[in-house]
Formats: sequence, structure tokens, C-alpha cells
Amino acid sequence: MRQYTSKNDEQELSLQKEYMRKAASYVDGLAEQLGRRPLCCVTTFGCQMNARDSEKLAGILMQIGYEPAENEADADFVIYNTCTVRDNANQRVYGRLGFLNSIKKKKPHLKIALCGCMMQEAAVIEKIKKSYRFVDLIFGTHNIFKFAQLLVTMFENTDMTVDIWQETDQIVEELPVNRKYPYKSGINIMFGCNNFCSYCIVPYVRGRERSRDPKEIIQEIERLVADGVVEVMLLGQNVNSYGKNLDVPVTFAQLLREVERIEGLRRIRFMTSHPKDLSDELIEVMRDSAKICRHLHLPVQAGSDRILQAMNRRYTKAQYLQLVDKIRTAMPDIAITTDIIVGFPGETLEDVEETIDVVRRVQYDNAYTFIYSKRTGTPAAAMQNQVPEEVVRQGFDKLLKAVQDTAKERAALLQGKVLEALVEEVNEQDGTLMTGRLSNNMLVHFPASQNRIGQLVKVSLDTCHGFYYTGHVVD
Ligand code: 5AD
Ligand code: SF4
Repeated sequence: MRQYTSKNDEQELSLQKEYMRKAASYVDGLAEQLGRRPLCCVTTFGCQMNARDSEKLAGILMQIGYEPAENEADADFVIYNTCTVRDNANQRVYGRLGFLNSIKKKKPHLKIALCGCMMQEAAVIEKIKKSYRFVDLIFGTHNIFKFAQLLVTMFENTDMTVDIWQETDQIVEELPVNRKYPYKSGINIMFGCNNFCSYCIVPYVRGRERSRDPKEIIQEIERLVADGVVEVMLLGQNVNSYGKNLDVPVTFAQLLREVERIEGLRRIRFMTSHPKDLSDELIEVMRDSAKICRHLHLPVQAGSDRILQAMNRRYTKAQYLQLVDKIRTAMPDIAITTDIIVGFPGETLEDVEETIDVVRRVQYDNAYTFIYSKRTGTPAAAMQNQVPEEVVRQGFDKLLKAVQDTAKERAALLQGKVLEALVEEVNEQDGTLMTGRLSNNMLVHFPASQNRIGQLVKVSLDTCHGFYYTGHVVD
């Protein structure tokens, strides 16, 4: 097996800093031409990993002299960081590109860029080259660290700049990052996925698993904490297999122990856990930790053994339930959430009943339910027995109802309790309320002043409204 390097590539880092200076001179030129600072807009589709990548894109754009636009229509540079996990994400991008084209007709200096998972698909690139000629820059998931350099190429050419890599063994961190929240941050601990679940396109667009050096992760978190961060989310497609291909292998549980020691850090979250790789050591570390949040996202995908096998998930329903039992025995107050797919090739309504049975037994605090989407190039796309839409809909509705019922029951259990919440932002509907996040990832709204944002406060969960609470601060 190919050995990937885990260390930060310092040489590449200084090269990119060089390109940032050059890109800045182009942005200055544009500012002169416009008589104001140019505005940029980074739009994210998809998961937390993409959200983190977008903070990196925004970091570079700010560094070279752009200012954030209120909305896309005002921007002089728009970048879509795309997702391709389901086809509806792709369709949304095409739809919005049509809108951007109409803006560009009135504002020819508008630059449009596309990056992220969808761009790793050859058919997408062909389609954009043919039907969306007005796009200025396209790159993929493996060369995002070259963003500054790619911007320079874009400014120096009138043609569409396209640079897609099939893979990379480079890790380039420590470029500027523009964090969305001052008090919490995602941190990539690994990239890619080796699991090849038969429905999933991620291993094809994000490449093989590469773990970052643990020392560099710790240093990054220490820097974030010094900068005011109290909560971190460790990110990877399958964090439970973190560290397996490092020169000196480290387990995810060992990494968590190190992160726990960082002074000033108050909360630790992580995403996503594959059930087949969740170790007893991890359960122990979570149980004994004062900082790791009482929340585990544990995608089950399906409840029928036949479907699980066809999905290549490498666990059975019984094994999954046993794992949940072990977790709940160690941590009775833990919230468990999941992802479920309905309509995988060959899935019958009886199979969906098995999934519903899992939902009832596990009592998920929340479940993200998806309709199976056929992704070209995955083994499942070639399967003959695709499920008729009507059957999928029926199974999906029934499952959704079960998910909502159990989630409501779970939420009701905490009513009247006093728990710690991280104050995150002003409530969107009512400006007198603040929104806080509990350790179990649920939201609570309560009266408090804005200067408590970023603080941990004790909140009484007075009323449960199904999926969130209202309450009051008790400290
Ligand atoms: N169709 C529907 N849902 C999918 N997911 C991944 N691939 C597909 C697909 N082809 C879901 C899985 C995964 C989540 C991030 O997206 O449930 O856990
Ligand atoms: Fe996709 Fe499976 Fe990897 Fe998750 S673990 S990213 S579902 S292949």
C-alpha cells in the first residue's frame, strides 16, 4: 500500500504565500478600477468538511484583499464549494449557476469559481465546459491548498482555468482561515475514505484515507484555543480509523486523550464514526472525559442484514444494536444520532421495517433520512434492482414518522433539567433570546445578553418543543 505523508508541506506553504502576494496585487488593481474594495461570496454545499474547506477559501480571499459580500448578487467573486453525495446537491448547483450567469451579463467583471466534490466527476467537468462557459475557475478536492495560485492563473487568463487532480499525498495546512464562529471550530484530522460503501461516491471524490500528524493537530487546536475557541469538532469521513496509516500508528482514542489535555479547551466533538471501527478504547475515553460531548453520530444506513451486506457496511443489525448497548451502558445520558438511506437497490418494505425496528430500539435523538440517490461509478449504480419511486416514498414516510416519534420521546426526557449550554448566537426569530447548544447537540433558547456569546452557561430546560427547548439561565 502506498504510504502517504502526514506532515505539513512547509515548502508548498511558502510557495502559496508567495502566490497570495501576487493575487493581492490583482485584487488591488480591481479595487482601483471599481473605486471600492471588491466583494466575495463563498457558498457551501454539503457536509462539515466542506464548511471547513470554505473557511480556508474565505481566509485566502480576505488575505488577498476581498471583503465579504452580504449576498451573492453583490459579489465580484463567487465560489461554490460543491457536494455530490446525492444528485439533488448537483442539481442545485446547476440551477444557481443559471442565476449567476444572468448577473454576470450585467456585471462582466464578476468571476465565478467552482470547487469541491462535484468537480471530481469527469462528467460534471464536461457538462460545465460545454454548457456553462462563463465559469472562470474550476478545481477539485485534492488541490484546494493551491487556491491562491489558481486565482493568479485565473486573473492572468481569459479562458476557463480548470485544474482537477485525481489524488494527492500532500497535506498543506496553516494557510489563512476565516472562521465563521469565533468560539468554535472544525479541525481536519484526516482526509478521504477507504470504506467503499457501495452507494457512496465519497471515496472516489475525496481519495484514500490520510491522517494528519497528531502533533500538528494538537498545535492547531492550541492555536485556536489561544484565539478564543472553546469547542472543537474533529473532522474526518471515518474518524474511528484515524492514525492507522501514520508512520507511528496512533488510535483515535489516543488522539482524543491528547486533545483532552489542552488547557482552556472546554468541549470536544467529532464526526463521523463508522460503527465497524468504533473501539472499546474509544467508549472508555468518552466515558471518562469531562470535555467530550455526550453525542455520538453513528450512521446505521439500514436495518436489514441483506441490505447492510449489499451496502458493504460490514456489520449486521445485531452487531450494531450490541454496540449501541455497550455505548449506552457506559454513558446512559449520551445522545445518539444517525444517517439512514431508504430505497437502496433491492430494498423492500419488509427491509424498511427492520430499519424502523432499529430506530425504535436505539431511540435515536435525531436521524437524517435520505432517499437513495444513484451515483455513477459506484457499485450500487450498476445494480439491476433499483426500487420504484412509489415504494421508496412509502418506506420513507413510515420511517420518518418513527424517527420523529422516538426523537420527541428522547427530548422530553430532559425537560426540567439544568444543563450546560454553549451560547452560540442571537435567536433568529426573537432578538431578545440567545441560542445555546447542549453537550448532546440539542438547542435551547433563553433570554440573555449578547455578550455571553461564546460562554458556557447553566440553563434550565423549562419547556421541550419537540426538537428544541426554551429555558432560562440559572447561574
Ligand atoms: N444516496 C443517498 N444517501 C447517501 N449518503 C451517502 N451516499 C448516498 C447516496 N448515494 C448518505 C449516507 C451518509 C450521508 C452523509 O449521506 O447516509 O452517511
Ligand atoms: Fe461514504 Fe461509507 Fe466512506 Fe461514509 S464510510 S464516506 S458512507 S464510503
